[in-house]
Amino acid sequence: MNKLFYGDNLTIMKKMSSESVALIYLDPPFNSNRSYNLLYKNTTGLPIPEQTEAFCDTWEMDFEKSELASDIPHIMQEYGINADTVHFWHYMVEALKMTDTKLLAYLVYMTVRIIEMYRLLTKSGSLYLHCDPTASHYLKVIMDGIFGHKNFKNEIVWHYSGWNKKLKDKFESRHDVILYYAKGDNSTQFNGYSIPWENETEYIKTRKQKVLVDENGDKYVMSDAGNGKRIKRYIKDALKYGSPIDDVWNIDKINNSSKERLGYPTQKPIALLERIIQASSKEGDVVFDPFCGCGTTVEASIRNNRQWVGCDIAIHSIRLIQDTRIKKYALVEGKDYTIEGIPQSTEQAQYLFEQDPFQFQHWSIEKTGGFCSNRKTGDSGIDGRIYFEAGNKLCSMVLSVKGGNIKPTDIRDLRGVLERESDVEMAGFISLHEPTKAMIQEADAAGYYEYQGVKYPRIQLLTITQIFEGKTWYCPSVVKAQRKEGGQTYLNI
Ligand SMILES: C[S@@+](CC[C@H](N)C(=O)[O-])C[C@H]1O[C@@H](n2cnc3c(N)ncnc32)[C@H](O)[C@@H]1O
Repeated sequence: MNKLFYGDNLTIMKKMSSESVALIYLDPPFNSNRSYNLLYKNTTGLPIPEQTEAFCDTWEMDFEKSELASDIPHIMQEYGINADTVHFWHYMVEALKMTDTKLLAYLVYMTVRIIEMYRLLTKSGSLYLHCDPTASHYLKVIMDGIFGHKNFKNEIVWHYSGWNKKLKDKFESRHDVILYYAKGDNSTQFNGYSIPWENETEYIKTRKQKVLVDENGDKYVMSDAGNGKRIKRYIKDALKYGSPIDDVWNIDKINNSSKERLGYPTQKPIALLERIIQASSKEGDVVFDPFCGCGTTVEASIRNNRQWVGCDIAIHSIRLIQDTRIKKYALVEGKDYTIEGIPQSTEQAQYLFEQDPFQFQHWSIEKTGGFCSNRKTGDSGIDGRIYFEAGNKLCSMVLSVKGGNIKPTDIRDLRGVLERESDVEMAGFISLHEPTKAMIQEADAAGYYEYQGVKYPRIQLLTITQIFEGKTWYCPSVVKAQRKEGGQTYLNI
C-alpha cells in the first residue's frame, strides 16, 4: 500500500477508495504567508514569477474556483453532508464574494479537498488539519459542517520556542493550530500520548505531593480519583506510563541547526507527526498526507510501522523523499513502495497525457527544469518557462507543450509569442510526437539568440523520447542557486 503520488491531490483523491485510510494529516500552503509557500528563488534575488503566481493564483477567485464554489453544494449533497451546512456554505460564499475574495478562494480550494478526505477516512478514522491562526477559525466552521460539530476533538496549539521581538502593535505569534476531528462514531481510534518522566525525582518534584511508602517498600502518592475518593498512585507505575499530554504541544521547529533538516522550507518536525500517528492510529494502519512536502509524515509512519500514502504537486518533493527518507530505511521501489504519476517511458507519458493532459504538461515542463504557468488553459500559448541568467538579468525561454497532434501552425504561434513578448528571449516546444520537416523549418526560420558570442536557436523542439534520452534545452546557464532569506534556505532549481 505504501505509495507516493506526484500530482494534484484533488485528482488523486478522487481515484482513491472510500474508507481506505485510518489517519489523515494535512499541512496545506497557508493562506496568509506568500513567501512561506515559495520553494524556489534565484540568484538575482527575484522570486521565480511562476512560483509566485502559482501560489497567489491559488488564492484568487478565477473562473475555475467560481465554478467550484457553485458546485460545492451539489457535492455536499451527493456526499450526504447535512442541509444546514449546504445553506451555510451558500451564505458564506455570497458574503465573502463582497468582502474577501482571496479568503473565499482559499476556502473553496480547501473545502473540495476536505470533502474528499472525509470520504477516504474509515469509520474509526481521524483527521488533523494543520493551519495558521489567520484561517483556522474559518476552516473550523467548514470542518464542523463536513465532520459534524460533535466530532470535533481538539484544537491543538503547536507552540515553538524562539526569541520574542518587542513588537509595536501586538504580541509575537509563536504557534500553529492543528484541528483534530474524528470521522465520528464510537469506534474512533484514540490511544492518547504520554511523555515519559525522566526519573523519580522529576516526577515527585512535579506532583508536589507527599511521598508515602507501603508495607512492601513501594513509593506512592495519594491522588484524587475523580469521584470524591482518594487512591494510591504508585510511582513505579507513573514512571512506566509517563505523563499524558494536553492540547498545547511544545515542540521545537526545524531550524538551521536541526539534525533532521532537509532544506525544505516548510518541513515539520518528526516529533510532531509521531505524536499524531501514535495517538490516532495503530500498527499497520494507512496514514495519508495529501500535501506531503518533504515527507515528514512518510518517515514518521515508517518509524511506527504504519502504511503510508503521500502526495505532492511538486516533483522535487517526491525526489527528495526518495533520496532521503526512503533511502534511509533502505526501502525498495516496487517491493516496499510505489511511485505513481511520474512516467518512466514515452508510453507512460502518452498514458499520462490521455488520463490528465494538465498533469502531463506539468510533468514535462518540470522534467526539463522549467516552471509551469498555473492556469490550466495556458497563458496565451505559454505553458511554462525556463529561466536563465545573462549578465545580471533574469531571462526566460517560454515553453509550449503538446501531447496530441502537432502541426506547423503550433510553431508559427510560438513565433508570434516571441514577437509579442518583449521580455522573452527564446521559446521551447515539447511534444509527444516527432515534429515534421515543415515544423523544423518553421523553427529554424526564427533565427538565433546570441549571448557572449554563442548562438542559441530561438525556437527549440524536444520530443518526450529525446527528454528521456537526456536531451535538454540549449541556453545560457539555467538558474541554479541556493539562497538564504529570513533563515530559510531555498531549494536548488
Ligand atoms: C506546507 S508544505 C507541507 C510540508 C510538509 N508537512 C513537510 O513536513 O515537509 C505544503 C506542500 O503542499 C504541496 N502542494 C500544494 N498544493 C498541492 C496540491 N494541490 N496537491 C498536492 N500537493 C500540493 C506543496 O508543493 C508543498 O510541498
